[in-house]
Amino acid sequence: MNRTTSPATVFRKCFEWEAAAKARESGLYPFFRPIGEARGTKVIIEGREMIMAGSNNYLGLATDPRMKERARAAIEHYGTSCSGSRFMNGTLALHEELEVRLAAFVGKEAALCFTTGYQTNLGCISALIGRGDHVVSDKYNHASIMDGIFMTVGLNRNVNVHRYKHNNMEDLEKVLAAIPIDESKLIVTDGVFSMEGDIVNLPKVRELADRYNAAVYLDEAHAIGVVGPTGRGVTEHYGNPDLADLIMCTFSKSFGSIGGFVAGDHMVVDYIKHFARPLIFSASIPPANLGAAMAALDIMQEEPDRVRRLQQIAQKMIAGFTELGFNVGTAETPIVPLVIGDDEKTFLFWKSMFERGVYVNPVISPAVPPNRSLIRTSYMAIHEDHELDTILEISGEEARKIGII
Ligand SMILES: Cc1ncc(COP(=O)(O)O)c(C=O)c1O
Repeated sequence: MNRTTSPATVFRKCFEWEAAAKARESGLYPFFRPIGEARGTKVIIEGREMIMAGSNNYLGLATDPRMKERARAAIEHYGTSCSGSRFMNGTLALHEELEVRLAAFVGKEAALCFTTGYQTNLGCISALIGRGDHVVSDKYNHASIMDGIFMTVGLNRNVNVHRYKHNNMEDLEKVLAAIPIDESKLIVTDGVFSMEGDIVNLPKVRELADRYNAAVYLDEAHAIGVVGPTGRGVTEHYGNPDLADLIMCTFSKSFGSIGGFVAGDHMVVDYIKHFARPLIFSASIPPANLGAAMAALDIMQEEPDRVRRLQQIAQKMIAGFTELGFNVGTAETPIVPLVIGDDEKTFLFWKSMFERGVYVNPVISPAVPPNRSLIRTSYMAIHEDHELDTILEISGEEARKIGII
C-alpha cells in the first residue's frame, strides 16, 4: 500500500487483523471460494469438478431449466429491477400474486414478501416488538433472528430479550412463567435448525404459548420443501398450520431464488407491511427472482416426489455417517452436521474433503457454540445414490486419518 500517513484510527484494526491472512497462507482458509460453474449436484471450483454437499438448494431447483425460463420471462415482462421499495414504486402484480399463492401454500390468510429472508426476520421482529415487550428466542436460532432482536433493541431501548436452551421446553416454560401474564411476548424459533438439522418441538411450543399468552413466530427457512409430507414445513410435519401464528421463509434455499416472506393473519401481516423498516427502506425482490420463486412453488406442488426423495436421502446419510462413527448430533433432516468440536481438526477435515472433490462447509464459533465446531453437510433431492456413497466413503477415509472417528 502506498501510504505516507498511518491509517485513520477507525481502520487500524483492519491493518492489524491477521487471522484470515494466516489461514490463507496455511491453505486452510475455506471461505469465499468462487464457484466457476454450477451443474446440479456438481460445481466447478478452481477448475476442478466437485460434488456439492454443502448447498441449501434442497430441491435442486436453482439450476432447473423451468426456473431459468420463468426468471427470463419475468425479466422480459418487467425488466431487471423494481427500482424502489414495496412501499412506493416497487410492488409488482407478481409480488401480490406470489403472496396469495404462498399464504394458501402454508395455510394462512395473507403473506408478505421481503427482499431476503434476513430482511424478513429483521422487519417482522422489529415491527412487532417494541418498548416493554418480550421476545423469547431459542439459543440456536439463526443470526438473522438475533439481528432482528438487536434492531428492535436499538430502536426501542427497553425491550426484554430472553434466550432459552436449545429446543428445551422446560427452560422455555421457566422463561415464560417468569414474565407477567398480560405483557406482550413473542416466542421465536427456527423450524429446522440451520446447523444441527433438528426439528423444533412445535406442539409443545404452541401449548406453552397458549398457556402464557404468547404468540409463535416460526422461521421455516430450512423446513419448507424439506419436511412435512408435501414439503409445507414443520407445521405440516405436525399436521396443523395453526401451531405457529406467523410463518416466515426464505427463497434462497428450497425455492432456488432469493427473497423471503412472512405469512399469518391478514391484520397482522398488514401491520408488518406498514412498520417493517427493511421492507419500506430497501428495494423489492427483482422480477427474475419472483419468477423463479413462483416456478419453484409450482414444481413443489406438482412434484411431491422430490420432497420424499430428499427425506429418504436425509435418512440414508444420517444412518451412513452414524454407522461410520461420526457424531451427527440430533440431525433429522438433510442438514447433517459432523460434530468435531475442535477448530483445527474441523479445518483439516474440510481441506482433505475439498482435495478429494467433496464440497462441505466448516462451521466454528460464533455460528455454533464454542467447542461445537462441525462440518455442515447438506443434501439435495437430485443427489444420486452413487454420489452419496462416494461422500460417505471419502468422509470415512479422511476422518480416520485425522482421528475424528
Ligand atoms: C434459519 C434462517 N433464517 C433466515 C435466513 C436468511 O435468509 P436469506 O438467505 O434469504 O437472507 C437463513 C439463511 O441463511 C436461515 O438459515
